[in-house]
Amino acid sequence: MKHIAILDFGSQYTHLIARTIREQNVLAKIYSNGAAAAELKKENVIGIILSGGPQSVYDEDSIRIDQNIFEMGVPILGLCYGHQLIGQMLGGEVKPGKTREFGWAELSVRGESAIFKNVSRKTQVWMSHGDAVAKAPEGFQIIGATADCPVTAMADEKKKIYGFQFHPEVAHTEEGVKMLSNFVLDICGAEKNWKADNLLADLEEKIRSQAGKKKVFILCSGGVDSNVAFALLTKALGKDRVWGLYIDTGFMRSKESEEIQAGFKKVDFDNIRSIDASKIFYQRLKNVYEPEEKRKIIGAAFLDVKDKLIEDLGLNPDEWLLGQGTIYPDTIESGATKHADKIKTHHNRVDAIQEMVKKGLVVEPLVEFYKDEVRSLGNLLGLPKDLVERHPFPGPGLAIRCLCLDAKLPKEGTREARNLTADLFSKKFPNINFEVLPIKSVGVQGDNRTYAHPLAVWGARDWKKLSEISVAATNSVRAVNRVLLLANPGAGAPEFSISENSLDLSKDRVDKLRRIDGIVNGIIKSAGIYGAIWQFPVVLIPIVDERGRESIVLRPINSRDAMTLNFYEMDLKVLDKIVGKIVATGEIGYVFYDITNKPPGTVEWE
Ligand code: XMP
Repeated sequence: MKHIAILDFGSQYTHLIARTIREQNVLAKIYSNGAAAAELKKENVIGIILSGGPQSVYDEDSIRIDQNIFEMGVPILGLCYGHQLIGQMLGGEVKPGKTREFGWAELSVRGESAIFKNVSRKTQVWMSHGDAVAKAPEGFQIIGATADCPVTAMADEKKKIYGFQFHPEVAHTEEGVKMLSNFVLDICGAEKNWKADNLLADLEEKIRSQAGKKKVFILCSGGVDSNVAFALLTKALGKDRVWGLYIDTGFMRSKESEEIQAGFKKVDFDNIRSIDASKIFYQRLKNVYEPEEKRKIIGAAFLDVKDKLIEDLGLNPDEWLLGQGTIYPDTIESGATKHADKIKTHHNRVDAIQEMVKKGLVVEPLVEFYKDEVRSLGNLLGLPKDLVERHPFPGPGLAIRCLCLDAKLPKEGTREARNLTADLFSKKFPNINFEVLPIKSVGVQGDNRTYAHPLAVWGARDWKKLSEISVAATNSVRAVNRVLLLANPGAGAPEFSISENSLDLSKDRVDKLRRIDGIVNGIIKSAGIYGAIWQFPVVLIPIVDERGRESIVLRPINSRDAMTLNFYEMDLKVLDKIVGKIVATGEIGYVFYDITNKPPGTVEWE
């Protein structure tokens, strides 16, 4: 079948490109960046997109493509790294940009390029880069620029080769879909003949062929993904060949376990059993502080609990495959594609599971999909709304929302970050108070993982202004990857210290977090905004007030697929109510509200 090929350079967004194209009913497939021109020709490729990636084109070992691809006579579009690669391989010049740009920029369109048909002359685009094309190759025209990046979009219309420094595939580029559809439909001449309806039948067939005669044990967390994967496996293989196993890790939300069991009963899924394994999880996580280590231990514990159950039941392990509701972002952020940086190890991508995947022992029917596509599949399968529409909740649950602290490690200085922030704020935001917090969280910038400090600000409550502060601070201060609004500033200057004691995942801390999380969830449901928020982590952090009480971060976000996100702009009355109730528990010092988008932040803190 004729299709669009996407050559992957390890961008966090490669699959988003494919998906946006599939949404136009055009088939798109992802290829390794080493694909040869001859191979692509044989495969019936009618257009090529070069993805972004974490590398620099002028690194000594930078990845290139087969030069013959430029001679195939097939339209080419390079995005971010792909754009720079076109610039460099065709004789232009690439240099580090004037400033690193992460976030929105305004693109001014020039000329009348086919790729910008029906696109506004000034339009919002999403940037995430350090390097930039300084000089376009011969034969290319500049067809778009931003204030900081003169060659933001370029084209050789005769040869149909295009390059964008920005990412049209992320939802934040307002007219990105239009640009990609212009490329695919008008420039490549693709036909709209790829239908999502066929997908279910294909998926079931794929499951049957992978399973052969084997049965499947699927770990159900109660989240949307595993619910849909479980339903899909059951539909493909029948109830007697699929066993759902719901493991209560002790890190579930309050009442979550009961609600999930009730949900499954409603749809007559009686091929699921539950097991309380909280003791094992708490035991193994004792005195563990480091986020990646936590995640690895949790992933391995899931497997061990499952193996022990198989043994206890006297089942023959050779007859069983492991089912998982892994979705695409879980794999890409764990560094699964060849050149992608590892942002974090999702619990369903730990080493032991990777080994099983290699041996073909894991069935993951949703591994190519994003959350919103998984929800559509769930609806097609007839699952009830409360199983499909619930907020995403990570498998390791509250365990990754409870930041730990090893008090034995040397304390990290924040002075340099503080000075840089002071410089920026004195020029741009003189009335805003700030402090760099002496803890770290995970983020993602320019396709790379960051582990850096949050910046707390107070003195403004206008979301637009706060958003401006957040973008400016994370763009200019390297040691800062998140910005938080301090939602309960007192009269005096707050003192943000870190706990004197080592803090691991003790049951007390997790119980405290569960109580606060329950309060927050209750309020957003009664305020009628649960459905308007995509996901709402509540995080416990070891920043303590003068009475030694830890702090809470509220992290409500909006997103299509968790690959990029905007922080949620909550009605201030609801926010005040939440903060008031949390403070009234007497258990919490400061309440922060995370005002970071992704990039540069991630949804979760670990
Ligand atoms: P991040 O924090 O990477 O999260 O922006 C993206 C989405 O993935 C969820 N998440 C996980 N889900 N196991 C899961 O099942 C994990 O280990 C895990 N880590 C993050 C996160 O809640 C968000 O929806």
